[in-house]
Amino acid sequence: MKPEKLTGQARAQYVQAMFSRIAYRYDLMNRLMTFGQDRYWRAEVIRRAALPTGGRLLDLGTGTGDLAIDALRLPGVSAVAGDFTLEMMLVGHRRLQARRQHEPAWSGADALHLPFREQVFDAVVSGFLMRNVSDVERALREQRRVLRPGGRVVILDTTRPKPNLLTPVINIHMHRVIPALGKLLTGEGEAYTYLPDSTENFLSAEQLAARLQAAGFIQVGFRRLNFGTIAIHWGVNP
Ligand SMILES: C[S@@+](CC[C@H](N)C(=O)[O-])C[C@H]1O[C@@H](n2cnc3c(N)ncnc32)[C@H](O)[C@@H]1O
Repeated sequence: MKPEKLTGQARAQYVQAMFSRIAYRYDLMNRLMTFGQDRYWRAEVIRRAALPTGGRLLDLGTGTGDLAIDALRLPGVSAVAGDFTLEMMLVGHRRLQARRQHEPAWSGADALHLPFREQVFDAVVSGFLMRNVSDVERALREQRRVLRPGGRVVILDTTRPKPNLLTPVINIHMHRVIPALGKLLTGEGEAYTYLPDSTENFLSAEQLAARLQAAGFIQVGFRRLNFGTIAIHWGVNP
């Protein structure tokens, strides 16, 4: 079965094994395939999280910790970086240690069963996580559970662009260039075939916004970036 069609535990195991294999080259691949743009998208996620001074952020599906690290630059902010693939977090931890840089609190965490109490975070952010989870509704419920009233959720992920003049170029980039580059750099072409395939099988930007509303978030909105291939969604816990 195609990996993006897997469900439940089988999906989780596939995703975990894949990110374990590509962990050591993950950041380099990100920079190359987004032409370095991901840094700007991450900065916008942190801006939209609207953390108060001294606020607490959860970066869920943190990978090597990029969003959490960005948040730590804000005054007094503390960040928990949670993921269920320990190898990804280890890469981030070792890099920060080598640079003697302040680290987030790394936490083994499954997005479907968060190991945190109710209402402990001012913001929950995620980068390229939601497309991978086997139960989007449950993941959103869990994020809302750990958010304080008035706290924000911000989601960055790839999304299906609406057909436009650039569609043929985007398709070549997604289906040919990225898998070839992924194979060259990580030896794992399949992981980078999963990226476009899981994007195409994921909810549309409008559908994800509707799921946020159904989960009880208010002031829900989203913005498309990068020729419509990336979306940032947000919402507030009432
Ligand atoms: C594409 S990477 C994104 C990493 C990082 N957030 C970024 O923006 O580059 C997706 C991450 O989500 C994690 N992940 C996927 N499903 C998860 C789940 N159910 N619970 C926790 N982490 C999950 C993977 O282990 C992986 O590290």
